[in-house]
Amino acid sequence: LDNGLAETPPMGWNSWNRFGCNVSETLIKQMADAMVSSGMKDAGYQYVNLDDCWQTSRDASGKIVADPARFPSGMKALADYVHSKGLKLGLYTDVGFKTCAGRPGSRGYYELDAQTYADWGIDYVKVDWCYVDPNGSILNTGPKPDAATWYGEFRDALAKSGRNIVFSICNWGEQSPWEWGPRTGNLWRTGGDITDKWDTGTNWFKGIINAIDENNKYASSAGPHGWNDPDMLEVGNGGSTTDEYRTQFGIWSIMAAPLIAGNDIANMSPETKAILLNKEIIAVDQDRLGVQGTKVIDNGDSEIFVKPLANGDKAVALLNRGAQTTKISVAAKDVGLPVSEGYLVRDLWEHQSKGSLGTISADVPSHGTAMFRVSAAALADLPASLDIAPAASNVNL
Ligand code: GLA
Repeated sequence: LDNGLAETPPMGWNSWNRFGCNVSETLIKQMADAMVSSGMKDAGYQYVNLDDCWQTSRDASGKIVADPARFPSGMKALADYVHSKGLKLGLYTDVGFKTCAGRPGSRGYYELDAQTYADWGIDYVKVDWCYVDPNGSILNTGPKPDAATWYGEFRDALAKSGRNIVFSICNWGEQSPWEWGPRTGNLWRTGGDITDKWDTGTNWFKGIINAIDENNKYASSAGPHGWNDPDMLEVGNGGSTTDEYRTQFGIWSIMAAPLIAGNDIANMSPETKAILLNKEIIAVDQDRLGVQGTKVIDNGDSEIFVKPLANGDKAVALLNRGAQTTKISVAAKDVGLPVSEGYLVRDLWEHQSKGSLGTISADVPSHGTAMFRVSAAALADLPASLDIAPAASNVNL
């Protein structure tokens, strides 16, 4: 949706994955402070997003009421605080009659809610898909309305509010949001909820690898102002390994996914920080060409993803789905770069140039991902002493 926002994938933090319903103005202020002090703001993170459970009821005029015990200063004051840090505040609601946690939904109140958010100074709204039937169940096992219509109405209500608000569609990939999402919102979920696990099979709750598999299918729908959303990050939440979190962050970036941290950013281990603050990988995600990279080679457990970048470089990810460390290689000329005298290869986890190579290759740990930025170099750019391996012609896995 070209509302002037999300020209690159949104970056920020959201309360749900780590804190669930345990939200308060104290927490949100802490997270805003931490976004600045941790260096995340300088790295590009901007949105501080409050998820479900901030709202309790509607007043006599129908206006939504924030929990007075948890948000005693009110949402306007909270937005002012977040803005004073140079950050933006997001809220959560639902197109249906109740939110997933059973709080008041927005159905029947789209314009009033959009106007209320605008008056408070809200910058981002995530809109969920629970209870779309007032008599139905949380995950809507009964008949469903047309999602494109309901989310379209919400988009129009936001436009009418007069405030620029990022519109995050959260209907779990139902009714093909990659088809109507680009004219409706700035991002749309492509599947069920992420969990802090590697592989949950066919469960609605997705492991990291399941969300990647799903989100990879819809690459052609993504672009500036409208992005596929494989859901928020679990990096730092403790249920997966550091290599698995690197895969989540690296492949999310190759897929130009929103980078919405979901951990306690006021208490991060050095490993977590090194992932979330990896500026070279963030630059891949935020590249202004705005193309979602895709899986180009699938050889069982070894997979290769490539994302074209604005300056002609390619971001290349080598992902190991298997249980053992595996050497994965690909000829540089086979990732879509022009035939060249040599290729400059930079390792985005090690922050090191590997020199000029014909083959991109790494020993990738189980469930890990090696990440590279590869440029075609003219002979004049190449130092004399290098291994300018004439690129082997076949992909070599
Ligand atoms: C749904 C959404 C989640 C989260 C919860 C909150 O499950 O998909 O991202 O917002 O609701 O209740």
